[in-house]
Amino acid sequence: MVFLTILLPKHNPMKDTIRIKTSLSEEIESLLNDQVKMEGKSSSIYLAMAAYSDQLGFENSSEFFFTQSEEERQHMLKIFRYIADSGGTPISPDITAVPQEFGSFRGVFESALEQEIAVTKAINKILSAAYQEGDHATANFLQWFVREQQEEEFTARKRIELFDVIGEEGIGRYMIDQKIPEIAPPEAEADLNA
Ligand SMILES: [Fe+2]
Ligand SMILES: [Fe+2]
Repeated sequence: MVFLTILLPKHNPMKDTIRIKTSLSEEIESLLNDQVKMEGKSSSIYLAMAAYSDQLGFENSSEFFFTQSEEERQHMLKIFRYIADSGGTPISPDITAVPQEFGSFRGVFESALEQEIAVTKAINKILSAAYQEGDHATANFLQWFVREQQEEEFTARKRIELFDVIGEEGIGRYMIDQKIPEIAPPEAEADLNA
């Protein structure tokens, strides 16, 4: 029994043949595929937010969420292509349990911020794993997402601030909807002021 154990290969040789074609470790590939799914789900949730805002009669907000949905799909594709280009196997995600109701006009923006914070945490988790494994290509690839998430969180917080600054009474919510397209990331704001 003892020598049998020694003779048996420690790992599946078939798996090694596949693995040699990709520069990604199993863990990184799996984390990246989780992120493909997360970005895809974000895209679907933003689409639901677009419909919800439209039903409430807030056209600018609805338009904003449509654009966000498209952006998240682009993020999904970016990671999907990265996995493929690295010789890995990207998985087209199964998107389920998309919320369709967000409680209130303010609630929809609060949910958007919560979603972006969750995405930031997920990106950081993959980045830490990439550093730990010395996978500099993936760490480098993820830098774009780190910057993107900084902007997403900044602007998502600014949109919620509109509710506090303008207030929801009277024509407040109408005014908030008017201001939604004006919210820009810090860099763009600096450009406008220059
Ligand atoms: Fe994203
Ligand atoms: Fe986002």
